[in-house]
Amino acid sequence: MTGVAGQDVTVVLTTLRQRLDLDRLTNIGFPSALDFDYTELAPFFGYVLNNIGDPYVDGVAGRHTKELERDVVEYFADLFHAPPDDRWGYVTTGGTEGNASGLHLARTLHPDAIVYHSNAAHYSVPKAIDRLGLTSVVIGSGRNGEIDYADLRVAAGEYSRRPAIVVANIGTTMTEAIDDVSKISSVLDELGVRDRHIHADAALAGVPLALLDRHRRPGFDLADGAHSVSVSGHKFIGSPFPCGVLITRGSLRERIGRPVDYISSIDATAGGSRSGHAPLFLWYALQRHGSDGLHARAQKSRDLAAYTVRRLASVGVAAWRNALAFTVVIETPPAAITNRWTLASSQGLSHVICMPGITREQIDNFVADLAAVRDLGLAAIPTPEPAAA
Ligand SMILES: Cc1ncc(COP(=O)(O)O)c(C=O)c1O
Repeated sequence: MTGVAGQDVTVVLTTLRQRLDLDRLTNIGFPSALDFDYTELAPFFGYVLNNIGDPYVDGVAGRHTKELERDVVEYFADLFHAPPDDRWGYVTTGGTEGNASGLHLARTLHPDAIVYHSNAAHYSVPKAIDRLGLTSVVIGSGRNGEIDYADLRVAAGEYSRRPAIVVANIGTTMTEAIDDVSKISSVLDELGVRDRHIHADAALAGVPLALLDRHRRPGFDLADGAHSVSVSGHKFIGSPFPCGVLITRGSLRERIGRPVDYISSIDATAGGSRSGHAPLFLWYALQRHGSDGLHARAQKSRDLAAYTVRRLASVGVAAWRNALAFTVVIETPPAAITNRWTLASSQGLSHVICMPGITREQIDNFVADLAAVRDLGLAAIPTPEPAAA
């Protein structure tokens, strides 16, 4: 028999698990927290959970988790200082959908706007701009990855009669650099650009930064001049599947939502049928960790990142990190290292991201491999046999 049917399911699943178990040991380049345990939620895979429509309008069907989705949205709305009487949001499929929805919202409010984003923005930003048919200007960034405010001033000055949509990176993909939303707002103020929408792409760093004390926390949320903020759920919080959260003002959502009679709800989200499991998992993680637990995990990751910089320096590898970042940046090492340790690389730079669940032992093994490849000129590092199940 050909095709998918007829395969030995046990063999396929065992092989898949072995690959995933190996990846767990060596994937230190992509930002997914690994320290989660959702076993208690296993029974909910026996249910259809569909949060079709708006989280704040239940609709006719009962097979949803909208009450938990609202709790999740309220938690993030508090975290990102959305006004209690003017807030809205929903659980997305990830940071990409959050950016696309933030930009869609912005375009609805300011159809003639020019979009500004730095050349360090995630590829989901130009993708959404393209799909929405928006006009954009790419702004330069400094060596650490932060947007160049002088360049923004020049570019936005040329179009100062047009509304501005600015995507601020709150943790760039490669170096976890943070654009200052207050400075961006000041640039637009100076130019007299009053019609604006600032979307904060805070995929990885939004939650860890928001939990910092007031005096250490960079300004990037709705109280600092942003109009929408998006985060990924599977990055810092951690979940077995991609998800995220978008937060904005309720009054802005009023402009995009359309009632749909047969679902008895409002259509303001990118998807129609939406996962009910994702809000359930995020709600559970928030309950189990609490803000203090999340903050402690973030600090542990920063400590591990500082340790990584020191360990790399001890073997003569130059490494650096932005303030408060989990991300450690190095020059791209040989392919033997980038392949084995799943390092993301771009324009000569690679990074290690010290996500919750990554251990000092993994960092020590990585540093030892890096030193060995350099000293012995190894082209490949042998992959250990997976442990017997
Ligand atoms: C800054 C930034 N924004 C957006 C995204 C996209 O997020 P997701 O993979 O959850 O769609 C990423 C992913 O790495 C990112 O680094």
